[in-house]
Amino acid sequence: TTSAAQFVPEGKGWAALRSAAADCRGCELYRDAHQVVFGEGPVKARMMMVGEQPGDREDVEGHVFVGPAGRLLDKALGAAGISRPDVYLTNAVKHFRFTTRGKRRIHQTPRRSEVVACFPWLREELRVVKPDLVVCLGAVAAKALLGPSFKLTENRGRVVESDGLRVGVTVHPSAVVRAENFTEAFDAFVADLKVLKKAL
Ligand code: URA
Ligand code: SF4
Repeated sequence: TTSAAQFVPEGKGWAALRSAAADCRGCELYRDAHQVVFGEGPVKARMMMVGEQPGDREDVEGHVFVGPAGRLLDKALGAAGISRPDVYLTNAVKHFRFTTRGKRRIHQTPRRSEVVACFPWLREELRVVKPDLVVCLGAVAAKALLGPSFKLTENRGRVVESDGLRVGVTVHPSAVVRAENFTEAFDAFVADLKVLKKAL
């Protein structure tokens, strides 16, 4: 099994990490994606948010949360009184995993092996940013940081300590976009974000 570890430069700053990630072949996902989408935001951010993986738009543009999930996240952050430019935003997996249906590229949840393979990049982001609070958006991010048996629905809106990290958890913005009762899902997401903001 491969891992990003052999592609991670030791003890480097954010810019060097980001450029090294462009050459990562730590798992198969680099093959079909357009490009790596590394985390971005202030290296001195107090809050880091971790999503799942780049989506179709992110893969095309090379930036985190610029598609529909990102627009929803922007709205929710605004409603919770959190300034997006103050947050360091990243993903558990740095390449887009998808399947094609006609011309469309359909998101696929990354495998556990891919999350594990990609973790060295997230570990380095945590080392350089040293956030006071990490907010996991969805189960993939939560399991990446808190282990595969972590239960999101039982723990959303809470902060737990793990390996000296303070980790808050909530749902993924895509789950809100797709929710049957959108207003309820959006309000619950904003309520979680408010609680997590207070925990900062
Ligand atoms: N979903 C994510 O988890 N991350 C992104 O950057 C975009 C969509
Ligand atoms: Fe490397 Fe992560 Fe991309 Fe896999 S998904 S190739 S581990 S950067």
